[in-house]
Amino acid sequence: MSQFIIRQFDKYFVEKDDHFLHQLSTFYCNIWRFDPNFAEYMQCTNGDCGKYFSYNDYHQKNITCCTICSSPLTDAWKEDDVAQTIINLINMEEDFFGVVAVLPDFTNTILGFCWGYNKKLETITDKKVQQAVFNDSGYTPYFNEIASDTSYRNQGIGSSLCRTLTEWMQRTSPNIPGYLHTHENSPARRLFEKAGYNFLCYDEKMGDGRIFMYVDKCKNLTPENL
Ligand SMILES: CC(C)(COP(=O)(O)OP(=O)(O)OC[C@H]1O[C@@H](n2cnc3c(N)ncnc32)[C@H](O)[C@@H]1OP(=O)(O)O)[C@@H](O)C(=O)NCCC(=O)NCCS
Ligand SMILES: [Zn+2]
Repeated sequence: MSQFIIRQFDKYFVEKDDHFLHQLSTFYCNIWRFDPNFAEYMQCTNGDCGKYFSYNDYHQKNITCCTICSSPLTDAWKEDDVAQTIINLINMEEDFFGVVAVLPDFTNTILGFCWGYNKKLETITDKKVQQAVFNDSGYTPYFNEIASDTSYRNQGIGSSLCRTLTEWMQRTSPNIPGYLHTHENSPARRLFEKAGYNFLCYDEKMGDGRIFMYVDKCKNLTPENL
């Protein structure tokens, strides 16, 4: 079992520590590049195709253009783009809540991340989600991202991260419905169910087993079960 610390990060934290954003975006990109469930190392540049290729496809099998449509490939994840996305989110200030799990030593190596934010209702395109989360406040707490280091899985990091984010939602938006987007076979689905999210519907637009989960009011989340 490894020790870890859960640390909140916000706009002011990131401004003080310019190494942190770089470390977080690198860690983030490497999860989707190298986690065997994703293996999103390179991607077809044809927007209608968008097929992903793994590190082995590219470096060992020497696949350099798309095996479906022959278009060139590009990096699936780019650190600079991810850093910009994170900056845009943390600039929402009190509408954003992010945490990382770090090693409790001087390196502060990141072992996991999790974040969510209050999303404006008008930005939701799925009709069933719109109906499920409709409320007078004009926003819904959206559970956006969670992942832990592949070498540190199954040691409670994901549960701790998920607990901290759902506690924030419960505290700040008790009477407002919340939702998230995941995959029906995601290893995170059990975490979300334990935290009190229920299956809502399939994502018919993106397909491929993607689902929406929701909670009718954030006070009904159950972070204590994690
Ligand atoms: C989902 C994820 C964050 C869980 O992180 P974690 O640090 O392993 O979390 P925990 O140690 O708290 O374990 C959470 C649950 O996952 C299960 N689990 C963890 N590792 C597992 C493994 N290798 N095989 C099977 N189950 C596993 C645990 O059994 C645990 O459930 P339980 O305690 O009720 O049995 C992690 O698997 C991950 O980063 N996955 C890739 C990113 C991802 O899919 N994110 C969600 C996108 S929507
Ligand atoms: Zn293609």
